[in-house]
Amino acid sequence: MIPRGEDKPPSRPMKRYWKVAVIANIKDDSKPRPEGVPPDAFADFDHIETVDAIRAAIETDGHQTVFLHADADLPYALREVKPDICFNIAEGLGGDAREAQVPALLELLRIPYTGSRVLTNGISLDKTLTKRIWRDRRLPVAPFQEFTIGDEALRPELKFPLFVKPAREGTGMGVDLKAIVKNEKEMRERVLYIINTYQQPALVETFLPGREFTVGILGRADAKLYSRHPEWYEKDGFHRFPILELDSSRSVTPNVYSQASKSKEVGEEGAPDYVCPANIDPELERKLKHFALRAHQLLYALDISRTDIRLDEEGNPRLLEINTLPGLTPDYSDLCLQAKAEGIRYEDLILEILYLGASRWGMVAPRELPSAHHAKK
Ligand SMILES: Nc1ncnc2c1ncn2[C@@H]1O[C@H](COP(=O)(O)OP(=O)(O)O)[C@@H](O)[C@H]1O
Ligand SMILES: [Mg+2]
Repeated sequence: MIPRGEDKPPSRPMKRYWKVAVIANIKDDSKPRPEGVPPDAFADFDHIETVDAIRAAIETDGHQTVFLHADADLPYALREVKPDICFNIAEGLGGDAREAQVPALLELLRIPYTGSRVLTNGISLDKTLTKRIWRDRRLPVAPFQEFTIGDEALRPELKFPLFVKPAREGTGMGVDLKAIVKNEKEMRERVLYIINTYQQPALVETFLPGREFTVGILGRADAKLYSRHPEWYEKDGFHRFPILELDSSRSVTPNVYSQASKSKEVGEEGAPDYVCPANIDPELERKLKHFALRAHQLLYALDISRTDIRLDEEGNPRLLEINTLPGLTPDYSDLCLQAKAEGIRYEDLILEILYLGASRWGMVAPRELPSAHHAKK
């Protein structure tokens, strides 16, 4: 058995410049879709331009970078390249926790990497499990029920209209206007469609008719010690990005932030309006930021996450899901729009995720804080 403290990442020798491997799954629009996969399969994969942007950002601070595909050759590529640290944005390939595959491999090989670890990335991909954890700690979620076969009895607390989505996808996959179901017949049809098309359980929730927000969180209790921008962080070590409202009222799928609407360029016809900072009263802003931070902490998320929240009929926030590998495409991904809205440069956002990650593996010397003695003078 591995002794208890061994689950901590091992320390690495301190170097000023690193070889950083950016690990991702890449969209290849030129390749035909394999048979039997859903129409929007691979929607959450990245374009190579995003990898290039991350590499360029990391190189601005003097590091060397390489790109590695998150596929079955990755173990061999890692052995050859021997990176000091990996910048992980990989979605993974298949199985019940694909976003945990690369972190699990890196842990096995004892290679440092950025962001959340195996358990968190495995659970956060599963919206049902995530909501069970949040509900247990009294975070507000809409009533929900998971269907694995399709003919399970509908629980009485679930009142129509309901919303049906795959339990373990992202980027609006399996989500369009038909996700809203008004009666039992529509619900059963949609549940079976999700189970058969996506080969996974369907999550059925109360339909939340209100406004939609996403809340980004960066940091951790000791972030200031290792940050290149300690001024970003509040006393508790966390930075809350300005809240982004997704106003889908004029999008291709009115009031649903679907895969089709997400795939439009910002500002393009049919895209949602991205409003950041959202125009909301201070009380709602305080609540949304509080819930997002609790959501992050309850899943043991590390350094970066984005939590999606919608308002119910009465205007109360309800947590939809947490993204522990939030998209990082410049001027497009929600988190990048949030950072930009407060003047945080893309390069600095990427380097911050890298340095916070590296510091957990002993690769960054802590900044000297003024000691109590100095503070008295
Ligand atoms: N219960 C719900 N009520 C209303 N809309 C929902 C509900 N669940 C999801 N949606 C809509 O579907 C979108 C995608 O759902 P989400 O849970 O965020 O999954 P993902 O972004 O991983 O695809 C949301 O941004 C929201 O617009
Ligand atoms: Mg979402």
